[in-house]
Amino acid sequence: MEHALYDRCGGFYTAGDAPYADYFTSVSVHPSLFGQLMAIHLGDAWRTLGRPDPFRVVELGAADGRLAGQIRQAAADFSWGKGLAYVGVERAPAAQTADALDTLYASIADVPAASATAIISNEFFDALPVRLARRATDGWVEECVAMGSEGWEFADKRAPEEVRVYASRYASATPVGGRIEIRQGIEPIFRHAARLAAQVVMTTIDYGGVSAMVHSERLAAGTLLAYRRHRASDDVLANPGHADLTAHVNFTQLIDEGRSQGFGCYRMGQQADFLVALGVGDHLVRFQEQSDATLETYRAEREAVFQLVSPTDLGRFQVLTQGKGVDLSPIRGLNAPTD
Ligand SMILES: C[S@@+](CC[C@H](N)C(=O)[O-])C[C@H]1O[C@@H](n2cnc3c(N)ncnc32)[C@H](O)[C@@H]1O
Repeated sequence: MEHALYDRCGGFYTAGDAPYADYFTSVSVHPSLFGQLMAIHLGDAWRTLGRPDPFRVVELGAADGRLAGQIRQAAADFSWGKGLAYVGVERAPAAQTADALDTLYASIADVPAASATAIISNEFFDALPVRLARRATDGWVEECVAMGSEGWEFADKRAPEEVRVYASRYASATPVGGRIEIRQGIEPIFRHAARLAAQVVMTTIDYGGVSAMVHSERLAAGTLLAYRRHRASDDVLANPGHADLTAHVNFTQLIDEGRSQGFGCYRMGQQADFLVALGVGDHLVRFQEQSDATLETYRAEREAVFQLVSPTDLGRFQVLTQGKGVDLSPIRGLNAPTD
């Protein structure tokens, strides 16, 4: 998966195939709306961090800088906008020409420590490579990728200890024959996120859920899919380098890794509730008041709002805000944990 997505010569994100035209996220639904709402959320994060100036925002998986551009435009209306220092973290070359990024790093490991920092990401964690494991009658096996006589195929191997540890921690509900994905690279991301500043607010938006949902009986077949030209396929070995490979994010893993790196508190909820609390509905009211609004343009705006909040569309995504050295009470639209 690492090679299929990020190989320098043939990776989906890093070598041609115009990936940014090939996938669709909340950022691409509308030219400015998601960024406007994220700017409102960043205002909450700024207050949480004690109103720092400059205000450093680090975006993980900044892609071609589209979200950065939307946020920067919206930030001009806020008092923190003048002090905004926008840092992109992106390993694909697409970000190199993104004007909206003040600074660009290929890895979070390269971002220097500074004063209070907000970190955001949209559909970043789902693009990190996973390992696959299956529960067999006598324990877990890892499904590795091998070159067979007819091309790439899966080959079982006895699961190494780290796979068994993950499975026993998060996948007790997976039945015999069931498959899970184990996302790699989470620990270093939180280790570096924690290193960035004494006070950090980190907001992650992605699809998936808590471990009991992602590794449930209902999703026993696993969630790894290949997307090519907006079509999903479970034949993930078919077009390496020409398809986006993604799997659900286990948010419990993010909460646990965060906690072990000093992110002692969090808030979580669905994108629909989050965006409603940030005023997505007001957007339509404001739009209607514009003198040049027509029924047709109003319908297009309403369609974008529906896509962002619909429970069968992007509204079902999860939003997680984790805090290190801060009190998260200014954060709107997300629930405090009940445990
Ligand atoms: C699914 S895209 C999402 C892009 C954008 N955030 C959006 O919402 O439209 C994931 C992005 O994360 C980038 N990425 C994945 N792993 C990364 C890493 N370890 N460091 C930096 N960027 C990474 C990919 O290159 C890709 O541009």
